[in-house]
Amino acid sequence: MQVIYIGNPILREISKPVESFDSELRRFVEELTRTMYEDDGVGLAAPQVAVSKRLFVFDDGSGPRVIINPEILEKGTEKVSIEEGCLSIPGIYANVIRPSWVKMRFQDIKGETHEELFEGYAGRIVQHEYDHLDGILFIDYLSPAKKALLRPKLNSIIKGKVAK
Ligand code: NI
Repeated sequence: MQVIYIGNPILREISKPVESFDSELRRFVEELTRTMYEDDGVGLAAPQVAVSKRLFVFDDGSGPRVIINPEILEKGTEKVSIEEGCLSIPGIYANVIRPSWVKMRFQDIKGETHEELFEGYAGRIVQHEYDHLDGILFIDYLSPAKKALLRPKLNSIIKGKVAK
């Protein structure tokens, strides 16, 4: 399983809902989780391995989690600025302002529905990963000036000049 980089159009697609909660899904989630740890990530969304499905895995330090078909029900009004990176945009880090918490409805690996409030580090990770399912990358939130500064580095990733 290989992480794809910015420049690959799959990262910009709107992913499709997961419909089958079967052994194939379980195997995919296992492999996605393994890839996240191997690449030293704290979250990895299916589109980042070229699979346009609405699911992601993450680990905020309390163990691996899988979130399937998430919906954001509510967001905190307080916003916080935290530095983010992304396995699909290697070597680039920038501060992004987002709500401090979100309440999500999602399905687990068995297809059961849950509602959960994610705050702190987990709140940040799930918002970043959720965006991947809608083709949004964290650099989309940066100011034009900040983006211009990062442009040469971004272009070299897009042209495939940056090794993993
Ligand atoms: Ni990412």
